[in-house]
Amino acid sequence: MDRLYRFQRHIYDPTRKYYLLGRDRLIEGLAPPPGGAVLEIGCGTARNLLWAARLYPEAVCYGIDVSREMLVTASRRVERSGLARRVELAWADATTFDPGATFGRSDFSRIFFSYSLSMIPD
Ligand SMILES: C[S@@+](CC[C@H](N)C(=O)[O-])C[C@H]1O[C@@H](n2cnc3c(N)ncnc32)[C@H](O)[C@@H]1O
Repeated sequence: MDRLYRFQRHIYDPTRKYYLLGRDRLIEGLAPPPGGAVLEIGCGTARNLLWAARLYPEAVCYGIDVSREMLVTASRRVERSGLARRVELAWADATTFDPGATFGRSDFSRIFFSYSLSMIPD
């Protein structure tokens, strides 16, 4: 995955906005309860998580990704956004992900996949 995203991550958001459609609608539909926790599996550049954190100021957002390259971009974006207190990222493979070990919690109000499910093996 790192091979795929090493260079792609630099142009990912400006190019994908034309064909990864429906992401904002997905996030607008999450509507987590106040104080709820939102988890994205395969969070990429954290574009969706930042949108969710802005839209739901009482929620805490978590994201995992198997590409460390993507996570470099994601971490920078989170830092620059000023939302680092409410957006936590971690490296994890969805097929072996242990939320308790990774984030210290095992329950989430909402869990979503955005254009990542088809990339993840059974
Ligand atoms: C097409 S991108 C979508 C990124 C983001 N969700 C979005 O909507 O912009 C797919 C992401 O899923 C991640 N991914 C693929 N397989 C994964 C796995 N097994 N575990 C965690 N993340 C994975 C990739 O590294 C990549 O960042």
